[in-house]
Amino acid sequence: MAGKFITLDGIDGCGKSSVAESIFRTLEEQGRDVVLTREPTDSWIGEAVKRSISEDHPALTEAFLFMADRATHSVEISEWLKGDKIVICDRYADSTISYQAASLSLEGFDEDPFEWLKGISDLYVLSPDLTILLDLDPGVAMERIQLREKITKFENQDFLTKVRENFLRLAEMEDRIKIVDASPPLSAVAEEVERVLRTVLD
Ligand code: TYD
Repeated sequence: MAGKFITLDGIDGCGKSSVAESIFRTLEEQGRDVVLTREPTDSWIGEAVKRSISEDHPALTEAFLFMADRATHSVEISEWLKGDKIVICDRYADSTISYQAASLSLEGFDEDPFEWLKGISDLYVLSPDLTILLDLDPGVAMERIQLREKITKFENQDFLTKVRENFLRLAEMEDRIKIVDASPPLSAVAEEVERVLRTVLD
């Protein structure tokens, strides 16, 4: 497959969406054929995902909704990649493995939810050429989140601590995942992400 598939991930409050937009603009200014996309998507399935976040549903229901959204989104991403585009995706499969594993363990899921979700994911998702994991202390993330208007159920420190552990566990398993410290100011983080990006873009 041609093109390059770059994903950005990390806990809530890590600044991922701002960094994704910043690198998208930089690549566009360089005249690159680049697409910025995100999960949950803006499709009806993505809307169902967002609804499930704001309501109270079993973690398993949420996990399948996130994965259904991704199944359709992955077809779209494949088409962009076939068209030689650089695709920047704000959250992808690593989010489901990290967040829903944390939710499922809180609900006392029998299997190891991390391994279980990773197993399902590996069956159908696209493998990114590079994943930037914006790593941030959950306490600092919560300080940033508290400045926002709306806070979701995932945005509490204990939960984000578990999610972060899962992201770091994934980073140990997968060479494609590069950890970037998200604690400096946004411009410095974006600069570091651009440096890492250059290692996969020609
Ligand atoms: P997002 O819109 O990326 O929120 P933010 O921009 O604030 O990071 O994602 C919404 C929430 O959904 C966020 O708390 C992360 C969570 N999420 C999952 O739990 N699993 C997933 O697979 C994805 C894509 C997101």
